[in-house]
Amino acid sequence: MAGIPHDHYEPKTGIEKWLHTRLPIVGLMYDTLMIPTPKNLNWMWIWGIVLTFCLVLQIITGIVLAMHYTPHVSLAFDSVEHIMRDVNGGWALRYIHANGASLFFFSVYIHIFRGLYYGSYKAPREITWIIGMLIYLAMMATGFLGYVLPWGQMSFWGATVITGLFGAIPGIGPIIQEWLLGGPAVDNATLNRFFSLHYLLPFVIVGLVAVHIWAFHTTGNNNPTGVEVRRKSKAEANKDTVPFWPYFVVKDVFALVLILTIFFAVVGFMPNYLGHPDNYIPANALVTPAHIVPEWYYLPFYAILRAITFDVLFLDAKFLGVLMMFGAIAIMALVPWLDTSPVRSGRYRPTFKWFFLILVIDFIVLMWCGSRPAEGLVPLVSLIGAIYWFGYFLVILPVLGFVEKTTAVPETIEADFDAHYPPKKD
Ligand code: HEM
Repeated sequence: MAGIPHDHYEPKTGIEKWLHTRLPIVGLMYDTLMIPTPKNLNWMWIWGIVLTFCLVLQIITGIVLAMHYTPHVSLAFDSVEHIMRDVNGGWALRYIHANGASLFFFSVYIHIFRGLYYGSYKAPREITWIIGMLIYLAMMATGFLGYVLPWGQMSFWGATVITGLFGAIPGIGPIIQEWLLGGPAVDNATLNRFFSLHYLLPFVIVGLVAVHIWAFHTTGNNNPTGVEVRRKSKAEANKDTVPFWPYFVVKDVFALVLILTIFFAVVGFMPNYLGHPDNYIPANALVTPAHIVPEWYYLPFYAILRAITFDVLFLDAKFLGVLMMFGAIAIMALVPWLDTSPVRSGRYRPTFKWFFLILVIDFIVLMWCGSRPAEGLVPLVSLIGAIYWFGYFLVILPVLGFVEKTTAVPETIEADFDAHYPPKKD
């Protein structure tokens, strides 16, 4: 599929020409900012920019935090308290970083579900989607490693539980677990390597985001109709698109300001709301907390992990849980090939809409299950939730594509836009 035809940067002055023939960086920036963008994008398309902002915010606050933090088991907890009490603005840095992780995950979940609803993963955007899944995995690893650093009770026991999962792999599990920990148990070697990797991974994410953006700039953005921009001529393409600058830059910045208003209200007035009080107790290998819970953004997958409470044939329950948890994420990566519908956007798929709504509710219910102790009805509800999660991707999406009666899709993006905002008659 050819790219969307548009104007390219033309160096005018002598110095511009000199630079352009050696390093076409201004051209690259021009093409990025002026990229033709479907003019019907709705508010669900702001989250990519919010995510980019979060990534930069986490890196900047993280680098300054690292200047005052000490990755040693006998000093880590106190060094975090030192940041909170003695370092100028240290409390703000730490709370922005901790709550910034929550904003990052909140945004990524909306971004992912947006993609699932509007079929943004479908051809030709499979690579954008797969890179997105890799980013998500890297985000999960980074968040987990970072949570261990304050060396509170939840840090220590979270690290013990999660690395213990690898120990459940038959045969090689204990070897992998020891290799991850740098010893037989969570200790100083673990804290050191977790700090090192927590510093490294965000830069890996930066690289992945660059490829992510490169990929969707190659195919062009999807949009709420799922109809492609017309590309036969520049005149036609211009009817379906507007340049990213200034239109979407202004829209995205406006949204970002609103979101940051709420974000800084949380940072300022309720910075520990999303945290766990036990993490203000220094790590103690001899006292297990009554109830070990991960951060809210891991809860749905944590619930799937605990959903299996029985052995199946020669596979034990814990190992099956681990397989299910990683499988639940891996299955999402395969969605470009599991969805068989000829219609891309969920807007024109009446039956799909219902199943999608149940998927969103399922995700929230699983999140609740993950936050509760695994007793009473919780394991059963988690199991039902996990079955629906897999069922959606493995059965519902493939079958629905063949049996669903879809509604009329507009011919062009321009037609959809005009239907929402009728052109003014002079
Ligand atoms: C650090 C994390 C991420 C950043 C900074 C990021 C950034 C962006 C940006 C700027 C866009 C274009 C604007 C928009 O659609 O909102 C975009 C589009 C897209 N992203 Fe992400 N993204 C991230 C993670 C993910 C993840 C985890 C997935 C899903 C697996 C994903 C899937 C997609 C898809 C499919 C598109 C194309 C959407 C379309 O054009 O309709 N992204 N991303």
